[in-house]
Amino acid sequence: MSFTVAADAYDRFMGRYSVLLAPQFAGLAEVVVGQRALDVGCGPGALTTELVGRLGAAAVTAVDPSEPFVAAARERHPGVSVERASAEDLPFPDQAFDATLAQLVVHFMEDPVAGLSEMARVTRKDGVVAASVWDHAGGQGPLSVYWDTVRELDPDVEDESKLAGAREGHLTELFGAAGLREIEETHLAVSIEHPTFEDWWDPFTLGVGPAGGYVARLDPERQVQLRERCREKLSTAPFALTARAWAARGLA
Ligand SMILES: C[S@@+](CC[C@H](N)C(=O)[O-])C[C@H]1O[C@@H](n2cnc3c(N)ncnc32)[C@H](O)[C@@H]1O
Repeated sequence: MSFTVAADAYDRFMGRYSVLLAPQFAGLAEVVVGQRALDVGCGPGALTTELVGRLGAAAVTAVDPSEPFVAAARERHPGVSVERASAEDLPFPDQAFDATLAQLVVHFMEDPVAGLSEMARVTRKDGVVAASVWDHAGGQGPLSVYWDTVRELDPDVEDESKLAGAREGHLTELFGAAGLREIEETHLAVSIEHPTFEDWWDPFTLGVGPAGGYVARLDPERQVQLRERCREKLSTAPFALTARAWAARGLA
């Protein structure tokens, strides 16, 4: 899978945006000291860092199916229990956590309703389950310029816009199907300044996620064509990029 990559490649590609999202997302879930929290699909630990800052390492547990990410999260977060597991099959008893969060993960779950149901199962009654997904469908995610350009060159490409949770209201539907109550959906936004075009582009060549996987499958000529089309759109460096994520919370 396209998340079997080195943690520092993830940091450079998506981690640069997800670290900015984490404080807002943990705020939406109302994570406060005294709680035990589970970070589902932790990756190398962008949200884990935020949870440890709020709760202390001993109160945080994290899971991810990617071996290199689990290794990185363990190394980066001493004291946090990090397990290799998927959302759809969480290795924890019922009601083990006060809050269970999945930042930028639902769209990669094989069965999002099963994953969210498992998240609800391991959360205590009236505890918060929360999830966020970039607004890939609305064209306001961090990869929108990239996918717009890919579609111009390859109209049949499978981009990320149809993935679970990536359009307004879909997280609410999935949370309802998973049996969560008092569901609220909102959007969160992050802004980042890219000093140069290369600062933005180079991480796309590291093979991370569906976007990086697509670049890796292109022959060198088509890679250059895609890069130069993107450059035309982002020619004025430095440039600021604002990215929006859909985020939902509900009670177990
Ligand atoms: C975009 S990354 C998000 C990582 C981290 N939460 C962050 O905000 O930076 C998506 C993560 O979901 C993980 N993932 C993919 N399928 C999953 C599943 N079924 N259950 C849990 N995590 C999954 C991937 O291994 C990857 O670490």
